[in-house]
Amino acid sequence: MTTLVSSPLVHPGSPPDSPWWRSAVIYQIYPRSWADGDGDGVGDLPGISGRLPYLRDLGVDAVWLSPFYTSPQADAGYDVADYRDVDPLFGKLADADALFAAAHDLGLKVIVDLVPNHSSDEHVWFRAALAASPGSPERAHYVFRDGRGPGGDLPPNNWQCVFGGSAWCRVASEDGQWYLHLFDAKQPDFNWDNPEVRAEFEDVLRFWLDRGVDGFRVDVANALVKEAGFPDWDEKLHILDNPVDVPRKVPGRRAPMWDQDGVHEIYRAWRRILNSYNPIHTDAYSGDNDRILCGEAWVDSPERIVRYVRKDEMHQAFNFEFLKTQWRAVDLRKGITSSLTTADSVGAPTTWVLSNHDVLRHASRLGLPVGAKRPNGIGIGDPQPDADLGLRRARAATALMLALPGSAYLYQGEELGLPDSTDMPDGLRQDPTWPRSGHTERGRDGCRVPMPWEGDRPSYGFGPSDRTWLPQPASYSALAVDRQVGVEGSTLELYRALLAIRHERGLGVGSLSWLEGLPGEVLGFVNTSATGERVLVVTNFGAERVVVPEGVRLLLSSGPLGDGGTVPTDTTVWLTD
Ligand code: NOJ
Repeated sequence: MTTLVSSPLVHPGSPPDSPWWRSAVIYQIYPRSWADGDGDGVGDLPGISGRLPYLRDLGVDAVWLSPFYTSPQADAGYDVADYRDVDPLFGKLADADALFAAAHDLGLKVIVDLVPNHSSDEHVWFRAALAASPGSPERAHYVFRDGRGPGGDLPPNNWQCVFGGSAWCRVASEDGQWYLHLFDAKQPDFNWDNPEVRAEFEDVLRFWLDRGVDGFRVDVANALVKEAGFPDWDEKLHILDNPVDVPRKVPGRRAPMWDQDGVHEIYRAWRRILNSYNPIHTDAYSGDNDRILCGEAWVDSPERIVRYVRKDEMHQAFNFEFLKTQWRAVDLRKGITSSLTTADSVGAPTTWVLSNHDVLRHASRLGLPVGAKRPNGIGIGDPQPDADLGLRRARAATALMLALPGSAYLYQGEELGLPDSTDMPDGLRQDPTWPRSGHTERGRDGCRVPMPWEGDRPSYGFGPSDRTWLPQPASYSALAVDRQVGVEGSTLELYRALLAIRHERGLGVGSLSWLEGLPGEVLGFVNTSATGERVLVVTNFGAERVVVPEGVRLLLSSGPLGDGGTVPTDTTVWLTD
């Protein structure tokens, strides 16, 4: 690396005093699996509150809590029976209030999950719908239809649900209607054409805003409105798939249950509500207090995703392109450029994410051969990831991600370098994907295993007992928090250093240009702050070591450097002038 010519600006950067969410690092807590306060083997809100100082010390800005609401837990809480209460498994409403207060005292914002596409079949509205007759106002809260064929014995159309099998379930009552569930049969879809559904969710937003939350992560935000007429759709639905990895049978045709234009007016109405909590047109306005919406939307392209973050809609949407991109310099460069430029075209920040509760953790994913299709869970008998390679690449990928302008999401335990559990006995699996796919897809339990806090304790310190709702792999002992705190070179200390430098140097609001003239298997960019300070970021994907130019100083490296300070394969360095 002798010449350091940079490309024209790919992304211009944002003012240093931009609202918090344009650059925030947000840590996802999966409440079942982060910290168990009462020893029943399932994480809970008091457990979370007790461990929050760990997140302040890690250096994140906010937490996102996956659902903790009243729920029969048919989809780990994404099946909500009461949107205004806490499930006894996780505690009480007062525990949620205490958690929000404790987080705020530590300077952490709190984002909660909102699940508007479907409820639980144990929601009071759905129970009433089942008890009522076809055409009643009760049934109109959900999507009920008569079946096709003689006696209405066939589902109303051929849609498959995401977890496998038909997306329709027939009711037991005499009328024999069918209801739609894009996910499990215990997750009936709401009818968003019904103004009562819209009013209900606006009220739910206010309920949590009044309790002090800083925003909402909106579950399957692309699914609420379905194409009129419910036309047949021959293709399988998957979490996080899009036509890039699963080519469409009819190119250009959008799935009738995803990303319909009608969803946007819902989010415009929600944005008005959020803005009313921190009026943007008054002198008292401060971007530090913005309440935000972040959409989880599986759409066909970056152009479609940024429609959710136009000025009067959501603040952020997950950008899954980065997560789905293969470990290749050329692909990542393309994906990063298009993510930044499309977000810039509507004046929104982009988001970056590598792991969450729905996908193989990146320490495992990146240990699979480059180019392999991302499996939906790994189990006994499946090809196993290369753990060392996966961790080395995961550290390099995170160091790359946290130098990018925009907001970044971390998933609990990735700061420890946790791999997925890939040898869990199938009989212990809880994800509905496994039974609904006819035992062909193992699903998401592997990334949802309880956190290890103390390597020598029962349940690795997850709670006061030895109980854990999913078994922890033996490898988690050596990766526990207490084994990594203060240990030079540990993954936890790497994350702390990355987050500290990211904050100090304002990388989240910096500009980006590519470093040109590097070998094809090396990715390099410059993040420049408003005051002109530069951080040079270089990731080496190739076998040849990269020589760092003279005159630059090493800020950090995702792994050990080679002789003479060279950058080995699967390593990212941050440099400065
Ligand atoms: C997306 C969530 O992330 C996933 O965990 C859940 O199963 C589906 N939405 C259905 O709510």
